[in-house]
Amino acid sequence: MRPKNLKTRIFLDGGDPEETKEVIRLLGFLDGQTTNPTLISKNPRARHRLEKGEKFTREEIIDFYQETVKEISKLIPQGSISVEVYADHLTLAETMLSQGKEMFSWIPNAHIKFPTSQEGLKAAEQAVKSGMRVNLTLCFSQEQAAAVYAATRGAKRGDAFVSPFIGRLDDRGENGMDLISHILQMYRKGDGHVMVLTASVRKIDHLLYALKLGSDIMTAPFNVLKEWAEKGLPMPGDDYVYRPGGLKSIPFKEIDLTKNWQSYDIGHELTDKGMERFSADWNALIKVEIA
Ligand code: E4P
Repeated sequence: MRPKNLKTRIFLDGGDPEETKEVIRLLGFLDGQTTNPTLISKNPRARHRLEKGEKFTREEIIDFYQETVKEISKLIPQGSISVEVYADHLTLAETMLSQGKEMFSWIPNAHIKFPTSQEGLKAAEQAVKSGMRVNLTLCFSQEQAAAVYAATRGAKRGDAFVSPFIGRLDDRGENGMDLISHILQMYRKGDGHVMVLTASVRKIDHLLYALKLGSDIMTAPFNVLKEWAEKGLPMPGDDYVYRPGGLKSIPFKEIDLTKNWQSYDIGHELTDKGMERFSADWNALIKVEIA
């Protein structure tokens, strides 16, 4: 059952509805789910099909994503399900937006994931204006989070998420959890319309520290949630200390949230790499059509 003092919403990071069912059984609750192209490419049904040498057509893979998301949505009808648009370095905002609109119509509880890039923010700004819920993904810096805040101004609290990816910062020796702490601190000066969704969680200590910091949402893969359940859903107490080991601290920056999103320095190499990886994993599912 949900711990009484748990304020953070708990999401599963995955692309397999069977995992969703199992997590609901293990935890006794689940507040939502995040998906992405890599997670969908790891879905056992997609893998099975690929192992037989049967790739998908472009239409089939979209249908497969839609079916998967619909199944997950039925399992968590009160929760939020993040669905990610296809975006490589050439994809324009208009294309992302039209994909996003289509995806938003699949289920009643979708948040559409756009990358925290120029084109992604442009698409998200329009999406919010047209009443869609959004999740700005692949966020690796405080400036990017400030731009998300500015681009989604006017959204109702809960309709805009920002997803800082902590594991991928840890992977290159930076303390990803610092970024969560800094964004939460920076947003305290704002109107609260963007929720901070701790993403790229790799271990139970990421989860516990996200709860301790008061992240609005935390998404974790199946194994981390299973371990948390097996330990009895512990909560971080007053004495909880996160130990980043040898990871380098990320310094806090004073950033004014009142500017236009275009004036923030949003470039980050991990955002570019992340888009490359998501699109490569997606394209690997699709058969090359010879004209
Ligand atoms: C969630 O929205 C993200 O897509 C996910 O947490 C990324 O995790 P990874 O860095 O382990 O791929």
